[in-house]
This record gives sequence, C-alpha cells and structure tokens, in this order.
Amino acid sequence: MFRDRGCGDIRETDIGSSLKLSGWVFRRRDHGGLIFIDLRDRSGVCQVVFSPEVSADDHEKAHALRSEYVISVSGEVRRRPEGTDNLSLPTGTVEIYVRELLVLNVSSALPYSMEEAAEAGESLRLRHRYLDLRRPEMQRNLIIRHRAAKLMRDYLDERGFLEIETPMLTKSTPEGARDYLVPSRLNPGHFYALPQSPQLFKQILMVAGLEKYFQVVKCFRDEDLRADRQPEFTQVDLEMSFVERDDVIDLIEGMMKKVFNAILDVDVAVPFERLTYQESMDRFGNDKPDMRFGLELKDMADLAAKGTFKVFLDALQAGGRVKAILGKGMAGLSRKEVDMLTAEAQSFGAKGLAWIKVKSGFESPIAKFFPEEVMKAMAERLEATDGDMMLFVADRPGVVYDVLSRLRLELGKRLDLMEKGHKFVWITDFPLLEWDDEENRFAAMHHPFTSPMDEDIEKMLSAELATPALQGSARSTIAGFRAKAYDIVLNGYEIGGGSIRIHNSKLQSKMFEILGITEEDARSKFGFLLDALQYGAPPHGGIALGLDRLIMLMVGASSIRDVVAFPKTQKAFCMMSGAPSVVETRQLRELHIKTDLPLEEKSEGPVCDGL
Ligand code: AMO
Ligand code: AMP
Repeated sequence: MFRDRGCGDIRETDIGSSLKLSGWVFRRRDHGGLIFIDLRDRSGVCQVVFSPEVSADDHEKAHALRSEYVISVSGEVRRRPEGTDNLSLPTGTVEIYVRELLVLNVSSALPYSMEEAAEAGESLRLRHRYLDLRRPEMQRNLIIRHRAAKLMRDYLDERGFLEIETPMLTKSTPEGARDYLVPSRLNPGHFYALPQSPQLFKQILMVAGLEKYFQVVKCFRDEDLRADRQPEFTQVDLEMSFVERDDVIDLIEGMMKKVFNAILDVDVAVPFERLTYQESMDRFGNDKPDMRFGLELKDMADLAAKGTFKVFLDALQAGGRVKAILGKGMAGLSRKEVDMLTAEAQSFGAKGLAWIKVKSGFESPIAKFFPEEVMKAMAERLEATDGDMMLFVADRPGVVYDVLSRLRLELGKRLDLMEKGHKFVWITDFPLLEWDDEENRFAAMHHPFTSPMDEDIEKMLSAELATPALQGSARSTIAGFRAKAYDIVLNGYEIGGGSIRIHNSKLQSKMFEILGITEEDARSKFGFLLDALQYGAPPHGGIALGLDRLIMLMVGASSIRDVVAFPKTQKAFCMMSGAPSVVETRQLRELHIKTDLPLEEKSEGPVCDGL
C-alpha cells in the first residue's frame, strides 16, 4: 500500500493520526536541524518534515532527496507551529513528521526548475511535456477538460443522444482546409483522408434513422496554425433529425449553462444575445465579436461626403467605406504615440489612419477639410467627448472591417475595457456563399451541405448558372442567398458552428452546381451522400463545438496548447515525440510512394521556430 490519501487532502481533522503519503519532491528546504519537503501528487501539496528527533535515520536519508524524486513517507500529522501557516494551501495549517521514508525512484537533474517552469521557454517545456504536465496549473486544465467533456456527454445522453464513432480513415470532406492523407497499402496510389470533421457521416446517420448523434471526436486540418488552432483538435460534434435552428441553439445554451455552472460556478444568462452576420460586421467588423466592451464601428460615409478630404472622397467614389471607432480618453496621445497607432493600423492592412482629437475644439491634420458642424456630428455619432479621439479608416469594405475590428480589439485590451466574465453571442443569417475572386467562382461560406433560407430555395433551384450570367445580376442574386447557419462566439472566439442541412438531393446537386463542382466530380466525391439523400432523408441539422477553444476560455489560458495534453507547434511538430519524422525506404516502397527528398533522419527532427 502506497498511501492512505492524497497529499492535498490532509486537513486539521487529521491531526494526531498517522498517515502514509506518496508523491514527488516538489520544493525542498534544508534548515540544518529540520528538512522540509513539499510533497506533491495530483491532489495537491503537503509539507512533510524530517526531524532527527523523530527518526535520525530518515533525517539523514532526506539530505539526499532532490527535485522530483518519488518517495513515500509515513508519519504523524501535526498542527504547524504558530506563525508558520501557509494560507494559500488547503493543507497549509498542518504538516507530517516523517517516521519512515522510502525512496521509490530517483530523477535525473531537471532541464529547468519546476518552481520556475512558467518562465522556462515553451519549447523546452513541450519537449519535456511529462514534466510540464506535472505542474498543478496544467493538471487543473486537463481535469477541467475532462469534467467539461463528461458533463457534455451526460447532458446529451440525458436527452437521448447516442455517441457513435465515425471512421478516421475516410474520404475527404470539404471543410475548406487541406486534408491529412494516409496512403493505402492495399490499394496502391489511393489515399484515405483523416476527417476534417465527421460532417457527411453524421448526416448519413440521420438518414439512417439514428435521430440524435453526438461524438467527442478528433478532427484533422492541415492549415496555418495559430494560438487557437491545432492541426488535430477535438469537436463535440452533434446532429439531430426533425429540428430547426432554434432547437439546436436551445440545446447548446442549456449545455453551456450547465457546464459553466458546474465547473466555474457562474450563472450564464440564457438566451444568449443574437446578431445577424450583417449586424455583426457593421458593428464590430467581424463575425466573431468580443462583446465584453463597446467601441463599436460607426459608419461615417454621409459625414465624410460633406467634407473635402480626398482620401475619404476617393474611397467612397470607388465604392468603399469610411468608418470610425472611438479612442476613449486618447486625446492626450503624443505625436509619436499617434504615429505608432497609425503604423499598427498599417500593419493590419490600412493605408493610413486618420484621426481627430476632441479637446475643447477639434485638433487634427484633417480638421481643415471639415466644417465644424460635421466634426460635431461625427463626435456625436461616436459618443466622443472632451479627451477622446476619433479614428477613421477609408478603404475597400473588407479592409475597413478587418483593420477596425483588429484595432478595436487592440484598444479594448490596451484601455482595459473588457468586462470580466464570459459573453456568448450567436451569429446567424450568414450568406450562403462567398465569391472567390482568385478562383472566379462561389465557395460555400459554412460548407456545401448547409441549407439556404426557405425564401431562397426556389430562387436557388431556378438560378441561371451559365458562366457569363455569373458576372451580372445572377451573381448578385446568388450572393444574396442566406444560409440556415449559426456560429457560437465566446469572448471574441468562434467556439462552434453549425447549420440546418440540405436534405433533398435535387437541392444538394444544385448547390454543387453553383459551387462549380461538376456532376461527375460531385458523384466521385460525395456520391454516397447524394445516394443517401434519395432514400427518405429527414430534415436535420447540427453543430460542432471546438472543445479545445472552449476549455481554453474556461481556464483563462491564452493558447489552446495549454489545454491539450500533447500539442504541436506552429510547424505542426511534436517537440516531445519528434513527429513527423522520416520513415524507412522499405515502408515507402510498400506504400508505392517515391519521394525526391533526402531520407536521412536528422537527430533534432524538423526545425522548430516559434510556437
Ligand atoms: P467548423 O469548421 O466551424 O464546423 O468547426 C467547428 C468548431 O471547431 C473548432 N475548430 C478548431 N479548433 C482548434 N483548431 C482548429 N484547427 C479548429 N478548426 C475548427 C472551432 C469551430 O467553431 N462540420 C462542421 C460543424 C457542423 O456544421 O455541424 C464543422 O466542422 O471552434
Ligand atoms: P495624407 O494625405 O496621406 O498625408 O494622409 C493624411 C492622414 O490621413 C494621415 O493621418 C494618414 O494616416 C491618413 N490616411 C491616409 N490614408 C488613409 C485611409 N485610407 N484611411 C484613413 N486614413 C488615411
């Protein structure tokens, strides 16, 4: 028997009893006469004391203990002497006087000190992830992740959902990212794709009459990585038959309420706010608005047109926008600070940043282009008062939205405007399609299985698709179709997205046609879905939540790497295992794969620059 209970579970009620604990040597202080060790296991930390008066032998042995040795100790629980309590620990008023020490294992010298782990570089920590994961913060993150997933599973189970596994070796589904491919040895020259999501399979489960499906499932996307993106990540994926948008929304709101309440003890108010895609773009400049603060974008086209500032007039003339946000309390910025802000806007893609300071009057290099009343009206629209600054960007709509949405976030952080807590918002009424200038065709905004709004279905079925027509009014008609799609956003992160699907094979074929996917192509890629849709597919819809992002926001981490046990770097490299690695020529030959790259293994693996 190694232990009577966890190190973190000792309390004053244990005083006087004799207990056995096992764990790792966390901190060690040798005070000559007494040696103190913070013994750590998953439950927490407890102070154990080696005294020559209790056991001279063990006191002697304790001199040799080093960081992360694994030991087991037995001894008496005592009240700490007055003035030595550590109130930051639940075990902070007690300690164990060791009568018997057993060293279960030793540890090599550590690559970095466990106490200063947070300051050790992240690549060093990722390389020794087994040490990194010993940190109480990291263990807490994984415990919360486990509990949240369990709560969501239970919630769905209580509502009649079945967890059903779908294949990992599959055909690619078009979610917009590049696939990870797996060669098939038995079918030379053929490849499986790892799923970007179980989208097609969950729809087919609906055709198959399973009615309510969910899965906590790994998804794989070969895309540019960021702090909130991993090449493999986890979705809480679900699909339901005989539902409309609000059924899915209600289900998820109830689930979030339950999880936040059980884990963070906070009561999130339902229903969540809803914004249409257009409203979100107009007010915040993107479709994942951080609703914890204001500084909303305001349209200034009408007022800009009343002045003579050429940059604004040219942008409007060219069909662009002039929009502004409030720099709350920023009229005191020095010339240099304003230049830095301008440079920042330029790094986001703006040509420049026009500004007007509101002091007792208006102060700006562009003030001369506007009558006083126009600047007053601008200030009124932005609710700018003395001491504030108005910041303008004029450009193509995409640039204006993008730059101001990023500037807004930057100012929100810098001016410390973000409310504490969690602000959910649904984004609805997305456009069904977006025009891709490069490819000169439409692409699905969510994915090609998303249903158009009822009022657009007839128009879609009768849409004229000959290529020349796509240039003119037909193109703008199609661009105006809206989708039964919805995203859930938390504190400025998209934590989930879903839609009501097309359940009619004729409409699905039309969708492929609009996307420029030939009938032959559609058959070869999604023939199985088109077939299934012909045999009595029920109306259905669903959603997938990004579990990693949700947990990141719940624990207050700044990267999803902190809530994934074994994450990858920005180059999709695992610092610990060294994946990906080269393989033996024999393995490649079996798979009928030739490569023109050198195959010798580099001892350090691929270069890792940056996380
Ligand atoms: P979508 O592509 O929006 O929808 O993905 C759902 C959610 O998954 C999370 N997510 C990611 N998290 C970490 N790293 C990534 N690389 C990554 N990519 C996506 C996001 C996102 O909101 N099949 C549809 C769902 C449906 O229609 O039901 C889908 O996959 O939080
Ligand atoms: P200029 O006329 O180029 O000297 O610019 C005058 C001011 O307008 C400067 O503060 C520029 O940063 C700003 N400016 C230039 N281009 C734009 C733009 N597209 N949108 C907003 N402000 C701009």
